[in-house]
Amino acid sequence: MDTETRESWSGKLGFVLAAAGSAIGLGNIWKFPYITGMNGGGAFVLVYLGCILLFGLPLMLCEIAIGRKTGRNPYGAFKALQVKRSRMADAIAVLLLLGSLSLAGAGHYGFAAVLFGAALLFLWLGFAAVGLLSLITAMIILSYYAVVGAWIVDYVYRSFSGGLHFTQVSEAAEVFRNYQDTEPGRIALELVIFMTMTAGMIIFGIRKGIERCSKVLMPLLLFLLLAVIVRGVTLPGAREGIRFFLNPDFSKLSTAGVLEALGHAFYSLSLAMGITITYGSYLRKDENIFSTAVWVVALDTAAALLGGLAIFPAVFAMQLAPDAGPGLIFNVLPATFYRIPGGMGWVWAGLFFLMMTIAALTSAAALLESGVTFLMDQFKFRRVPTVLCTYAGITLLGFLTCYSTNHWDNLPGVDRFVRNVFNVRTGSWFDLLDKLTSNWMLPLLGLLTVIFVGWIWGARKAGRELREGTHGFADENLITLLSGFRGEPRYMDSANSGLTVLTLWGLLVRYVAPVIMATIFIQVITA
Ligand code: TRP
Repeated sequence: MDTETRESWSGKLGFVLAAAGSAIGLGNIWKFPYITGMNGGGAFVLVYLGCILLFGLPLMLCEIAIGRKTGRNPYGAFKALQVKRSRMADAIAVLLLLGSLSLAGAGHYGFAAVLFGAALLFLWLGFAAVGLLSLITAMIILSYYAVVGAWIVDYVYRSFSGGLHFTQVSEAAEVFRNYQDTEPGRIALELVIFMTMTAGMIIFGIRKGIERCSKVLMPLLLFLLLAVIVRGVTLPGAREGIRFFLNPDFSKLSTAGVLEALGHAFYSLSLAMGITITYGSYLRKDENIFSTAVWVVALDTAAALLGGLAIFPAVFAMQLAPDAGPGLIFNVLPATFYRIPGGMGWVWAGLFFLMMTIAALTSAAALLESGVTFLMDQFKFRRVPTVLCTYAGITLLGFLTCYSTNHWDNLPGVDRFVRNVFNVRTGSWFDLLDKLTSNWMLPLLGLLTVIFVGWIWGARKAGRELREGTHGFADENLITLLSGFRGEPRYMDSANSGLTVLTLWGLLVRYVAPVIMATIFIQVITA
């Protein structure tokens, strides 16, 4: 392993900000607020926080440990850690095959084919298949995530050029629909702009590219978010919105809501897609993985809560109804901001969409980087040509999404084929990709990752990697205390103390998480 030539983050701050940049995205500021609103407000928030602590943080620790131990991309990392062919990999291949058959029996040929492909990969590569599948998932996500990025770029432009003057949600919705239906060329152009910024962020490498950009963009994101929040909560009538967002109503929380909370916890933390392994592979051995992970999780959770505060108080104060789905930011918000008295609505709208651009950009950069790291590791390519090629490839894939978002008939043959094979009648290409990746691949890959760390690599060995870098930490700041580390390695040695953080983590990873996540995955398949 040529670790000497491999780059690294300059320090903890660089890693934390880059990883937080990947985690904080559309999921936090757009999706989290509205699913919270639909699932009983504060009740959902509590369940979500539980999922973050019980499953999100442990899985994040697993992924950083895998990445740092091996110093490789997800595929190379799983391959390096699976010392020999395991029976468990074969057993999983068989289970996947069975799942695929039952899906085919129910007429879901497309999803059945995906599971079938996963089963074959498992037979062939063992757990390295998890790494490969997560990379493929990441690239598919990027191809539609970037399209939303393109819409947001459009709305930044519209805000500042005075194009968002609606007082009614219906007018805003009309404009958004028109834009989607009749201007695919414009979206494609904006996609190129967005992807160019994304590639620009990573082309100079880990330290000079991603890290340097994150150090500027993340504080800017926080600043913009706070500015929009202050404007919103100081409007008369804002309190209703805060109540809608945070008052717990347990009667509205269903089992489906609990499942949604878990899925969203992974999605929001950018887990199970190889990103955290990739970023972890550039982490130095002397960094404390626990405290970095706690930081990333805390920042991501804070961003989700702040996202809700940026949106709901203003929406309620302007007497509009919170809407679900893309409608919330592209329909309700433009009308909300325009109604703010004083004629300065466009400024708030512009700042809001600028903030969303940053959130989407740093996440897209992480996705692209995982593909780039893979190609550079496995084929010894140099960075610049690799970035340029993946950039071009993903942009082309994104064009498909642009031309089919609302109207599949823009791609007649593809339309009929995909609809029949995946057995979907409604929704777009966009919805399909989202469903395939976040509802299916993500729980599956998360599950396989914890099984791998708990049982194949082994919780004990993984624990040793987690412990690396905690020695000699004498500072007793809040985070090191929170994560259970006070310098003395003895403190967390499972051999001589009862229930330490590390043993707790081991139990979660080996038993609790696999059982609960398998249950959820089965629910998803049979739903
Ligand atoms: N976490 C991102 C968000 O909240 C979305 C996301 C999911 C993501 N998986 C990812 C981003 C992987 C980058 C890499 O919007």
